Amino acid sequence: MITVKNLCKEFKNNDGTVNKVLSGINYEVNKGEKIVIVGPSGSGKSTFLRCLNLLERPTSGEIYFDGEEITAKKVNINKVRARMGMVFQNFNLFNNLTIMDNIILAPVKLKIMSKDEAKAKATELLKRVNLLDKADAYPASLSGGQKQRIAIVRSLCMNPEMILFDEPTSALDPEMVGEVLDVMKSLADEGMTMVVVTHEMGFAREVATKVLFMDEGTILEENTPKEFFENPQIKRLQDFLSKVL
Ligand SMILES: Nc1ncnc2c1ncn2[C@@H]1O[C@H](COP(=O)(O)OP(=O)(O)OP(=O)(O)O)[C@@H](O)[C@H]1O
Ligand SMILES: [Mg+2]
Repeated sequence: MITVKNLCKEFKNNDGTVNKVLSGINYEVNKGEKIVIVGPSGSGKSTFLRCLNLLERPTSGEIYFDGEEITAKKVNINKVRARMGMVFQNFNLFNNLTIMDNIILAPVKLKIMSKDEAKAKATELLKRVNLLDKADAYPASLSGGQKQRIAIVRSLCMNPEMILFDEPTSALDPEMVGEVLDVMKSLADEGMTMVVVTHEMGFAREVATKVLFMDEGTILEENTPKEFFENPQIKRLQDFLSKVL
């Protein structure tokens, strides 16, 4: 579904030096896979996700989505993003819009659906996450866990083929983590293709088809969750796991 070839991303520092954040990533995500990415802070996990849906332009390398090179210059970025949802740590809801308007904004604006179709779809999705009663509320009146479930609904309303999650539970109070992970698990069970950056090792063990360890801009180890956690090969992953488990 997604093929990443020799992906590099550099940022220029203020003093003119170059910060090499991704150094030649090669990876393939197949349809229906749930890839969990773990790794230390600053290792490039968010940058990798942001490159996948073109929130960041790679410095070099290619990304293919169903065989089409999405890093090619002529590609319509909005079309790519409609097929690949993204859920962020801080929800990124518009505070001046109701929950319903937040959810239907993109599909209506991008003419993926009529307003009525989008509302019908949003209603169905809100029911699914038990938040239909919040349709006319504003984000400020919701808890963090509720906001994140709305952010997932907003992403689902576009009928994406895959969803990228960047630490979706890291900003939540502990008692709200479970309700968000439950929604993610149910998506996984339905066969959604997912790439998830998270510190929730329980989620990784239970849901991931593959777990990746990123450090200093490369994927240092990749394995099934069982092997990844029980039999880590490289020293840096062993050290990392000894700190987080
Ligand atoms: N827009 C940007 N401009 C300049 N440097 C950036 C930018 N975005 C990220 N970086 C740098 O890239 C490196 C990797 O950052 P990134 O956010 O991808 O790491 P991460 O693995 O997601 O870390 P964390 O676990 O803390 O979220 C860091 O050194 C960061 O300072
Ligand atoms: Mg990050």
